[in-house]
Amino acid sequence: MKVLAVASEAYPLVKTGGLADVVGALPAALAPHGVQTTTLLPGFPAVLKATSGPAIHSWRDLLGGGVARLLSGEIAGHPLLVLDAPGFFARDGGLYGDQSGEDWSDNWRRFAALSRAAAEIARGGVKKLRFDVLHAHDWQAALAPAYLRYAAAPIKTVLTIHNIAFQGRFGPEIFSELGLPDDAWSIDGVEYYGGVGYLKAGLRAADAITTVSPTYAREILQPDYGMGLEGLIADRVARVSGIVNGIDPAVWRPDHDPALVSRYTSKTLARRAANKRAVEREFDLAPGEGPIFTVISRLTWQKGMDVLADCVDDLVTMGGRLALLGSGDADLEQAFTAARERHPGKVGVRIGYNEPLSHLLQGGANAILIPSRFEPCGLTQLYGLAYGCVPVVARTGGLADTIIDANIAALGAQVASGIQFDGVTRDSLVHALTRTCALYADQPTWRAMQRCGMKADFSWGKSGAAYAALYRGLIGE
Ligand code: ADP
Ligand code: GLC
Repeated sequence: MKVLAVASEAYPLVKTGGLADVVGALPAALAPHGVQTTTLLPGFPAVLKATSGPAIHSWRDLLGGGVARLLSGEIAGHPLLVLDAPGFFARDGGLYGDQSGEDWSDNWRRFAALSRAAAEIARGGVKKLRFDVLHAHDWQAALAPAYLRYAAAPIKTVLTIHNIAFQGRFGPEIFSELGLPDDAWSIDGVEYYGGVGYLKAGLRAADAITTVSPTYAREILQPDYGMGLEGLIADRVARVSGIVNGIDPAVWRPDHDPALVSRYTSKTLARRAANKRAVEREFDLAPGEGPIFTVISRLTWQKGMDVLADCVDDLVTMGGRLALLGSGDADLEQAFTAARERHPGKVGVRIGYNEPLSHLLQGGANAILIPSRFEPCGLTQLYGLAYGCVPVVARTGGLADTIIDANIAALGAQVASGIQFDGVTRDSLVHALTRTCALYADQPTWRAMQRCGMKADFSWGKSGAAYAALYRGLIGE
């Protein structure tokens, strides 16, 4: 079976978050199930480097952006298609916005173009390319199922929601430029609260909808989580399923990780100590025996970072230290930088994005803090499990599905793998930090928790099989 996956990012070529990790890992996860995945990405400069050979197709004027070409290449040994549309994607700055963090004003056109190209490829518009299923990820690709629907193309479509907070909402004036028929302008089409909604359009059109954990699939039926789309999700609930993300075992394994100072397994946990010393050096932390908490995150409201900023003094008073790597909202960056000034040697902050450092933190810190208000799946808790960096998480979305809280029953049965807390408030987080410090002080119990996490299976095995079964169900195999 051949699947065309469409997304705006994929590790290792371009990444701003977990979406890239998942899109990058899926082809290898699906291959054992007889699914060949070809990934279509925008021609960002870093993506073009992975292409070779002449263009296999071209558009004279793709959605008003001028000439566009389709190039081919490879991503981690799997087939790659790249939409080389320089007017849209060859820019300095971020994938979605300029250096100052402002969204590109033509994002609607850039990602409509990606989706349009995907739809044309999926319906057989490019010689020698044939697919059974189109799998679109997030709003940037979500118009593809809509284009296919209005072209009455027979190909089956899947849309995965990685984060329903990002919906691709634009004004009504863009509708006439999208190349959709007039009847698409309706509540059953692409119209969304008086404008155009890309995610909305895809959710209406797709044959199957998935999201990245079973709990999040239920949560988005409620207004607080569905963010305006809960009614539509409810309407299509029979087609909605939650498939939890896996992690790429080739990239995330502590016994083979080149970013670590000292590599280890669940049997040689003492070797983590050298990584902890390296974290202390990197983050200017005073050497010590107390727990190092880490944060590897976008600094945003979703991630509960405002609440954490309010708890840093408590964390230090308890004898903990903090090593934070992240970037995002200016006021949150400022709050953590101020915490570092207040607590020299106890709080270390790196504003920015640094892939190797994120590995070192997982391999050297004692616990990873993820106080998210909502979390569709979350990957850093899974990396934490694999690295013996015990996750301390809010009980929501994928965090609820992947961590076993160290309550009395779980500790007794020796299955606890982390600490969960309800409701992202200062009180609940301080309580979770207190529990974590107490567990850390009991080293045999702590080591048992690390080992539980490290032996948990978060490979793509089961989830790869679930996507393959979903595709097969759609095409009636
Ligand atoms: P989200 O996609 O919502 O940001 P996830 O937990 O699914 O959250 O994925 C985040 C991914 O980005 C993980 O691979 C994490 O390690 C990585 N990441 C986040 N912030 C940074 C950072 N500042 N430096 C390096 N990697 C980061
Ligand atoms: C989104 C979500 C995150 C999820 C990731 C990959 O960025 O915020 O929870 O892990 O997508 O599916």
